Amino acid sequence: MTTLERAEAAEHALSQELDKIAVKSVIYTSGERDPREPMPRPDAKGRRFLMGHDARLPKMPDKPTLVDFYRLRFGPSMHMLQSARLAMKSGAPEKVVVACLLHDIAITGFIRSDHGYWAAQLVEPYVDEEVAWAIRYHQALRFYPDESVGYQYPELYKTLFGEDYQPEPHIARDYQAAREHKWYMTSRLITVNDLYSFDPNVTVQLEEFTDVIGRNFKQPKEGLGFDASPSAHMWRTINWPTRYL
Ligand SMILES: [Fe+2]
Ligand SMILES: [Fe+2]
Repeated sequence: MTTLERAEAAEHALSQELDKIAVKSVIYTSGERDPREPMPRPDAKGRRFLMGHDARLPKMPDKPTLVDFYRLRFGPSMHMLQSARLAMKSGAPEKVVVACLLHDIAITGFIRSDHGYWAAQLVEPYVDEEVAWAIRYHQALRFYPDESVGYQYPELYKTLFGEDYQPEPHIARDYQAAREHKWYMTSRLITVNDLYSFDPNVTVQLEEFTDVIGRNFKQPKEGLGFDASPSAHMWRTINWPTRYL
């Protein structure tokens, strides 16, 4: 058996133990299998398919808040918390602090590719327009230096992507658009406070930002995912990632 087959077999055994069958969306295995082939279908053997909470995950409250997502779905968030604290300490406006706090939620909870755009869409209905805008464009600004605020092209990117990596035309285009925008500096300050190598010994508690979140994030009364906002379905999918439909 290959590593992938072994992982799939273990997964299959685990899903057999659940009373409902959990299925994987295409994106879970994208890159590991030929996307022109149909997804393998689990053998139901009379069992039902999952249409809600996945028992392998910590259960979210019925009306989840942003803080619940940090605690139960967003993996290690220390990078964002440290960035937000750094912004706060530097005396940056609160919009920048909250943007730093949220800027990488797509990576920690949803999807890595195009993370700035996904994160912006997730939070857009609930934060000031400028905050969502800044999160969207930090994706492109990360690749371009700005001497005026001491921001250099990250050394880490040379290691990660190679010395010869050039941002693609859509990134270059969005960088140019952001550069000329009135909110440029809000987005730029995310990159300035975005820590590449954060201190593993510094622990920042989410409680430090309770008031900032309260003032800047419009928590829907129905719970994130159950309101009628344009991104509610995205929060719902993070909550219930293995629903059959
Ligand atoms: Fe980022
Ligand atoms: Fe970041």
